[in-house]
Amino acid sequence: MSTLLNTETPITPKPLDGSSITFLELIQILDSQTSPPALEEINSWLSSAEISDPDLQPYIGFKEGNYWRHRVFRNEAIEMLVICWRPGHKTPIHDHNGSHGVVRVHQGLMWETIFAYDKERGLCYGTGRECPKGTITGAEIPDIHQLGNPDVSGQDLITVHVYAPPLGVLRTYKVGSSQVDLYTPNDFPT
Ligand SMILES: [Fe+2]
Repeated sequence: MSTLLNTETPITPKPLDGSSITFLELIQILDSQTSPPALEEINSWLSSAEISDPDLQPYIGFKEGNYWRHRVFRNEAIEMLVICWRPGHKTPIHDHNGSHGVVRVHQGLMWETIFAYDKERGLCYGTGRECPKGTITGAEIPDIHQLGNPDVSGQDLITVHVYAPPLGVLRTYKVGSSQVDLYTPNDFPT
């Protein structure tokens, strides 16, 4: 378990009847999980949370060369990050190598591109979509995608990420290539 909020048993979330949970309650629920929750559960919890700018203040910080990952907590079952992106920052094309994840756009505009892997043709473009503030998007296994803040957005991007199980060794891809590389993140994209 992480040392941030060490609880013995999973906390049952409030019923999703339109009521909301606080950012602290969200962290408590997630950090109390002892096994990786389903994507739908993570989606529900992230959707029902009220997240304010002051809530995220401890995790806000930007770098000029690349996006910056700020870890909220990590335990055996789940991890939570806040990522800060300047315009033009983007991840490599990657998948989560067995983890599933949910992203919530807190501020700014996120662009997500989905790819398909074909054994003969290699990696192929699939679809792209704009995710404005408030969007919650989940990545199934084995989604191959790229996230970023478009260089023409004119604004910073702040996103909240939850992964279950926590990200380990990730796989990265190149368009038109069948090559798959492994990457062990320390300061790695989501
Ligand atoms: Fe990702």
